[in-house]
Amino acid sequence: MTEASYPVPAEWAKDALIDAAAYDRMYAEAATDPDAFWAKEAKRLDWIVAPTKIKDTSFDESDFHIRWFEDGQLNVAANCVDRHADARPDAIAILWEGDNPDESRKISYAELRDEVSKLANCLKSRGVTKGDRVTIYLPMIPEAAFAMLACARIGAIHSVVFGGFSPESLCNRIHDCDSRIVITADEGLRGGKTVPLKANVDAALDHGDLAVETVIVVRRTGGKVTMTEGRDCWYADCVEGQSTDCAPEPMNAEDPLFILYTSGSTGQPKGVLHTSGGYLVWASMTHEYVFNYRPGEIFWCAADVGWVTGHTYSLYGALANGATTVMFEGVPNYPDHSRFWQIVDKYEVNILYTAPTALRSLMREGDDWVTRTSRKSLRLLGSVGEPINPEAWNWYHNVVGDGRCPIVDTWWQTETGGHMISPLPGATALKPGSATKPLFGVLPELVDADGKVLEGAVEGNLVIADSWPGQMRTVWNDHDRFFQTYFSTYPGKYFTGDGCRRDEDGYYWITGRVDDVINVSGHRMGTAEVESALVAHSKVAEAAVVGMPHDVKGQGIYAYVTLNANAEPSEDLRKELVQWVRREIGPIATPDILQFAPALPKTRSGKIMRRILRKIAENQLDQLGDTSTLADPAVVDALIAGREEAT
Ligand code: PRX
Repeated sequence: MTEASYPVPAEWAKDALIDAAAYDRMYAEAATDPDAFWAKEAKRLDWIVAPTKIKDTSFDESDFHIRWFEDGQLNVAANCVDRHADARPDAIAILWEGDNPDESRKISYAELRDEVSKLANCLKSRGVTKGDRVTIYLPMIPEAAFAMLACARIGAIHSVVFGGFSPESLCNRIHDCDSRIVITADEGLRGGKTVPLKANVDAALDHGDLAVETVIVVRRTGGKVTMTEGRDCWYADCVEGQSTDCAPEPMNAEDPLFILYTSGSTGQPKGVLHTSGGYLVWASMTHEYVFNYRPGEIFWCAADVGWVTGHTYSLYGALANGATTVMFEGVPNYPDHSRFWQIVDKYEVNILYTAPTALRSLMREGDDWVTRTSRKSLRLLGSVGEPINPEAWNWYHNVVGDGRCPIVDTWWQTETGGHMISPLPGATALKPGSATKPLFGVLPELVDADGKVLEGAVEGNLVIADSWPGQMRTVWNDHDRFFQTYFSTYPGKYFTGDGCRRDEDGYYWITGRVDDVINVSGHRMGTAEVESALVAHSKVAEAAVVGMPHDVKGQGIYAYVTLNANAEPSEDLRKELVQWVRREIGPIATPDILQFAPALPKTRSGKIMRRILRKIAENQLDQLGDTSTLADPAVVDALIAGREEAT
């Protein structure tokens, strides 16, 4: 081993679901005989019709298609709910912890089946049928899980929109997938503060020419909302009297399960589409192997269901495996900085999965908040969403896990459906900061800018050479964009958009995005989205947005703004523009620094040289490189002078 490494602890090596020898054997089998490997893995699900055709995929333009288990039929909700409700009706499916520590709910698998079926019947009674899109804009409350599973039960396609997105963003997403129904709550509750979800839905619906006919509203806080007669109804009234019997709709493996919007390097967010069979096999397999999940364990994924991590691990992967999943409504530092660890103790959580940004924000409050709690139940820790810096890794390992718990640093994307590169705790020696090795069926390659495959210890762009079952199938409404975005840069391969290094031991180290996507607190943001929000303001002529290093968020948002001739830079205008972006996209897009720039650095052909803007944002002024190709090199000095003032 070339870097500091943590060998697999003896008790893990002895008692692991998958040890080092099994990893090597299974990895080789999945690569050489995918049909046999995935036919076996598919057996983890209950199929209505078992698949006989396993893998049928090609990334080549002339024959581009991705199909897995294509003659199989199943229902995702039956797999995540009914089969466990039949076998262990009283086992707890969801442990819900409210924002207020005095509020909690326990939902057994039998109760979950009843709740999901009632809502499914309600949706049917309102005309929702197989293939219809349902937008879900809910906080982290059990009804979010009921709603997703109710859609899966009747074959409707859910599109969950994170509760932190603005009315404008919500409107775009409802419009893009043409939902006729929205499920929301009166208000969300996070860190003691309310989030006006229903008011946001109203504003979104006022905004655009949308086809929404029904809005179902969960009464969460009891806050005052306006209900529109004939369109809006309370959740409790809707499900009242509905039958708890609702036969799960038989779905083809390739029928859509959900759309989840995510940011790309250009244009509006893309509707990433996942299908039923391959996605659920992938979610279940990775949940079991990566977390070494054993029946009876308490699993807590702290991500919001508005993100893919919440979809795949809080919900689908965990429930497919019959786990007890903890769902937390609040934030890590409310009422105080011990909250996460109090929840771990309260529910005796065995597996905790969270993001480096949360760890960094807690780490700086001091160890005492952690060490005053027991955390004895913890067995395994997981990290997701962004590179974890060694300092945060060590803190997670030594302070949170008392040096006992392996850390699985899982690299994946909304597009990949589930984990792709990750340690298996009983098989893989850990190196802080490395996602380590590919999972079964994942064939990573590093390529240079020309697509040449690089061998050995090297850095390059990360591509995946062949399909895996959890892969997204298309961009909603835009199959051509799907192909162009992911398969045209390096023909025949899926391009991840990430840079990556491979070391002498074959370990992968993700170095971050190589496109115009930034990762703020583990959330993806397209710089183009923030730019178009800024230029929508009447005083803004031009904007360029880049990422900058940020101690807690990983990356922050640095915006350069050129004003129209009739506008003057001022502190008030700076504040106004920051607020404007929050309103246009949502608080997660808030620029950390907004610098007024008399002009942006452009080549003679008019292309903005982002490299220079990035270096200025990073304050690496000695690394600006060659500026002589700029149309006006003097722009750079003005930008450097303006930086002082903005930061
Ligand atoms: O840059 C990578 C980073 O997050 C991107 C995917 O973001 P999203 O689709 O929102 O999914 C986040 C949750 C899976 C990737 O392209 N990323 C994700 N996990 C890691 C990571 N970077 C480094 N290490 C990780 N473990």
